[in-house]
Amino acid sequence: MADPLLEWRKEFPALDKTVYLISHSLGAMPRRTRDRLNEYADVWSTRSIRAWDEGWWEMPLTVGNLVGKIIGAGEGEVTMHPNVSICQSLIASCFDWTGPRNKIVSEALNFPSNLYIHRQLESLGARVITVPSEDGITVPLEKLLAAIDQETLLVSVSHVIFKSAFIQDLHAIAQRAHQMGALVVADIYQSAGTVPLNVRELDVDFATGGSVKWLCGGPGAGYLYVRRDLWPSLEPRLTGWMAHRNPFDFDPGAIEFAGSAFRFLHGTPNIPGLYAARSGYEIINAVGVENIRAKSVRQTSLLMELAEKAGYRINSPRDAALRGGTVTLDVPNGYEVTQELLRRDFLVDYRPGAGIRIAPHFYTKDEELEMVVEEIQSLQRAAAAS
Ligand SMILES: Cc1ncc(COP(=O)(O)O)c(C=O)c1O
Repeated sequence: MADPLLEWRKEFPALDKTVYLISHSLGAMPRRTRDRLNEYADVWSTRSIRAWDEGWWEMPLTVGNLVGKIIGAGEGEVTMHPNVSICQSLIASCFDWTGPRNKIVSEALNFPSNLYIHRQLESLGARVITVPSEDGITVPLEKLLAAIDQETLLVSVSHVIFKSAFIQDLHAIAQRAHQMGALVVADIYQSAGTVPLNVRELDVDFATGGSVKWLCGGPGAGYLYVRRDLWPSLEPRLTGWMAHRNPFDFDPGAIEFAGSAFRFLHGTPNIPGLYAARSGYEIINAVGVENIRAKSVRQTSLLMELAEKAGYRINSPRDAALRGGTVTLDVPNGYEVTQELLRRDFLVDYRPGAGIRIAPHFYTKDEELEMVVEEIQSLQRAAAAS
């Protein structure tokens, strides 16, 4: 049966030159992104300082609106930042960690940046509880829920685990957190753009992610959603002049925060990064995350079948409902195999303790999945013979 999503391949020049299976790490660059970067250069050189009034100033919100459509946030509820690490630090900086409610509950499989930031809060009084994984793939939901108690301030979890692609039940986590009086931060980097999600329906308080991966938006375009009714109570310590109610008064006194989501900004935004990111969001919105997910489930299942036939252990959930867009294969000498695959223009990556991560996206052909498994097998045969 013809796959209508393959029509999009012509929008991504890199797909002609490589077997592109790395969208969990760096999504392919859309053809139009080059035009967008030229547009940025033109605006800078011709409009100069006037560009701020002609769109640049508002870009952290206007670009955020494109992300908002993908993740189910309302207009004006998503702000753009350089990366997720900044967003996580910004969220953490909203809270007082010296009181009895000072726990952060997370999973040991959370992205290390998030865990580093949590642990740095210990010097301010925070207590960090990380729930271990029993198999290196999944996070035991019951244990995570049980760790959330009346002393928990924040529950900080990844929607999809970066190493294994395990999908966590964010709704159940948010329900338990709210029953206990805690707030939830969801890192949705590995779900947004490949697993349908709606931050409002999931009832998370904060969500953050970036654009480098499934959104095909390139570096420098992290995003932050904050539940609107929390805004008045949040005064980040990680802040700057753009968060001021009247930034152009340049008042040297204590900051008075903007009423809008601008209160979550800090300094000058990464304008070229925001120009670059827009095409990816437009394409993901046009393709539709439901369509992307249907294809992803079919292709990750196919990939797992091929890998199993070849005799490789799979370090991702078998159940498609619990699996995001990536399949991790435990292949002997995985690091070396990955280096050789890259040399041969098969784009994948390797994570220690997990294996080779391979990700089809909406632009992937079934044959490419067959090709990568065959290539891994042939590399292993060659290694065994030498
Ligand atoms: C789930 C997850 N969170 C965070 C990051 C890192 O985000 P940033 O580099 O934007 O801080 C990554 C990947 O790089 C990731 O996979």
